[in-house]
Amino acid sequence: MVKVITYGTFDLFHEGHYRLLERAKKLGDYLIVGVTTEEYDQARGKLNVIDSLMTRIENVKKTGFADEIVIEESAGQKFRDIKKYDVDIFTVGSDWVGQFDYLKDYCQVVYLERTKDISSTMLREQNKRIQRIGIIGTGRIARRFIPEAGRVSGISVQGVYNPHIESAAAFAKNYDINYYESLEQFFRAVDAVYIASPHETHYEYIKASLLQGKHVLCEKPMVLKKIQAEELFDCAKRRNLILFEGIKTAYCPGFEKLLGIACSGAIGSIKSIDACFTKLEDENSRELTDLQYGGSFLELGSYCMLPIMKLLGHEYERVSFDTVTGSNGLDILTKAYFKYPNALATVTCGLGVKSEGQLIISGTKGYILVEAPWWKTNYFEVRRENPGDVEKFSARFLGDGLRYELSDFLSMINGSAKSEFKLTRGESIKMAEIMEMFLAVKGEK
Ligand code: CTP
Repeated sequence: MVKVITYGTFDLFHEGHYRLLERAKKLGDYLIVGVTTEEYDQARGKLNVIDSLMTRIENVKKTGFADEIVIEESAGQKFRDIKKYDVDIFTVGSDWVGQFDYLKDYCQVVYLERTKDISSTMLREQNKRIQRIGIIGTGRIARRFIPEAGRVSGISVQGVYNPHIESAAAFAKNYDINYYESLEQFFRAVDAVYIASPHETHYEYIKASLLQGKHVLCEKPMVLKKIQAEELFDCAKRRNLILFEGIKTAYCPGFEKLLGIACSGAIGSIKSIDACFTKLEDENSRELTDLQYGGSFLELGSYCMLPIMKLLGHEYERVSFDTVTGSNGLDILTKAYFKYPNALATVTCGLGVKSEGQLIISGTKGYILVEAPWWKTNYFEVRRENPGDVEKFSARFLGDGLRYELSDFLSMINGSAKSEFKLTRGESIKMAEIMEMFLAVKGEK
């Protein structure tokens, strides 16, 4: 019996896929089809796949050509599958010519002529209009955004706005995009807005954007008052617009995996979470000189609160803060303590104070340790009483990680999201409430 194997994503199943499978089947007697997981596609930079894994498998099944379907999870799997299934022929479309020649030592490699003028990418593009995104703010995070946006198909960075026109002009020149001298001009040119301006300006910019009918992705902390967060989410809902708080960790595949494992019972019932994020900053940076809106908690607190909100929920009984201030009175080290009915949590944020940035989730059967930079989750361990009993998990975290939130933002706008909001309205509102409490406590001192 001649065994043939082929692989693909098979998103938005089309004629090219059908013809490929038909010919692959004719190469032998038994056809194995590998269908990629979402995580593997993301890891190899294929974001915005629309159909779920189950749908893609179903579509391959429906052709009747596949005798067996396997799931492809990682780059090295093809070689292992060929040995495992005793495969005679490996085949893919001619877009891959030469790329799988290394398998020739193990089986025959056949590149089948690709069907012309059709691809999943083409269908995805036809399904939606390119979203023109505009950036408000020209700081460090805005600079990171541009290359990340280049990794997400379906988005084009249209231009930038900053009330300091020289900054906007310099930024625009650097990245070969437009800049606008007024917000009116800016809004006319874009479909969606990424807000990366100083924290205290977020509320006004989000409101203005929503009122102009624009979707909004806003850097964390989105706003610093609960009532503002509620008002903005209500406004977005009324206008059928997407409002996203950009905490990159919330959208990255490793963090999703971590939440899944933590909730699976692998460490029993969760009783404690300790999240620490510290950073050494230039003393003259805005974060360390803006006495009202700088400081460690406003800068880093959102990251640390995220796993707490996700795993313990919103309904804490009380929260309290302690801070250490620098010579200008700004908090350079903040600890927040959360008391839940059945669990405790701490947040440690340092700006100009360095510590071991770990995330530890403790339960009745063991704990999860995520070493720094846990906020770019790519590796974690589940540990138990027996020190030898360690389970290791890893996931890719590509580039600066903004591509994940952008990709989700885009899917939400296009109505093709596979899941609910990864960071919910309730979570963002709660975080705004805690920021507000922190600022109130700080104001009293
Ligand atoms: N294929 C083909 N003819 C096409 C499109 C795809 O023969 N017009 C083949 C590919 O070469 C591959 C298989 O179908 O062997 C699965 O391809 P996949 O990457 O899932 O499809 P694409 O349409 O190429 O997807 P994308 O645009 O996302 O790259």
